[in-house]
Amino acid sequence: MNAGIVGVGRYVPEKVVTNLDLEKVMDTSDEWIRTRTGIEERHIAADDEDTSDMAFNAAKNALKNAGITAEQLGLILVATVTPDQPFPSVSCMIQEQLGAVNAAAMDISAACSGYIYGLVTAKQFIENNAYDYILVVGVEKLSKITDWEDRNTAVLFGDGAAAAIVGKVSEGRGILTYELGADGTGGKYLYQNEKNYITMNGREVFKFAVRQMGQSAINVIEKAGYTKNDVDYLIPHQANIRIMESARQRLDLPSEKMAAVIKKYGNTSAASIGNALVEELENGKIHDDDLIVLVGFGGGLTWGAVAIKWGR
Ligand code: UT7
Repeated sequence: MNAGIVGVGRYVPEKVVTNLDLEKVMDTSDEWIRTRTGIEERHIAADDEDTSDMAFNAAKNALKNAGITAEQLGLILVATVTPDQPFPSVSCMIQEQLGAVNAAAMDISAACSGYIYGLVTAKQFIENNAYDYILVVGVEKLSKITDWEDRNTAVLFGDGAAAAIVGKVSEGRGILTYELGADGTGGKYLYQNEKNYITMNGREVFKFAVRQMGQSAINVIEKAGYTKNDVDYLIPHQANIRIMESARQRLDLPSEKMAAVIKKYGNTSAASIGNALVEELENGKIHDDDLIVLVGFGGGLTWGAVAIKWGR
């Protein structure tokens, strides 16, 4: 029995901050942000809305979408680098809020690759029959670790949460193959500094991302016994439209076969791939038995990809 995604949900905060809003408070322009990143606006959480609140809302929606109860969860995995506090974990906080009394819970720290790390971890526990259902959440409140005086990073990020319920799916469907990777030597290019702010060497991260995203996507496709021509839909980490385009071109895909929702949300790190998946499901872009590839990269440095035959 293969493990696959049997339900999804998401949550984005109400407040929208546009590029024009940012123009008023820092030395930047709508034109620069749009042409260099593809971002037009992002959602920013309220002061009293923390990471666990967003995770809880996305998780509730995913449970409903999967048609299961919180009691049926055997494990909760929350991928985040912006937990409410180091401990208790966000996963334990939402375990209580959801009433998921039968679930173990732990957080995963893999930055923007966290949603993929979560899916792949869940796959192992489902396929060895340890649990029937696992909740995976990618969630970030990046606004609380953003230096609003650093235009190199402040224009890039947004807040939000995306959740998936992983369970058993029918023969031939589900998460077919995966790749996870890390290169700690690149940790210096993207990290949280002593003031707790995000610090980034954009050009180095850009080069790494262009190299790694396309390659990881190809790797999972080939491991699954397919070629790039078989791919129906690509869902890359929404970090920069130029990086996403390079992955799409590597797979020779037309633009209508790639999720590009970055303009509305910015880079929401661990929530980004899951949020794009939900949006494209809602848009009717993904159908049963489509071959879809989810691929991401992030701080660590880390990366990850999965090839999925969609459907339960
Ligand atoms: O989830 C993973 C997280 N990180 C990423 O994915 C980031 C990967 N990197 C990138 O997306 C790009 O490197 C950035 C969007 C961050 C930067 O784009 P770039 O084309 O690499 O620009 P740059 O860093 O080479 O900067 C070009 C110029 C610089 O001015 P000078 O030195 O040429 O005079 C910057 O100071 O653009 C300037 N600049 C800005 N100007 C207006 C940097 N940020 C801004 C800004 N507004 N917000």
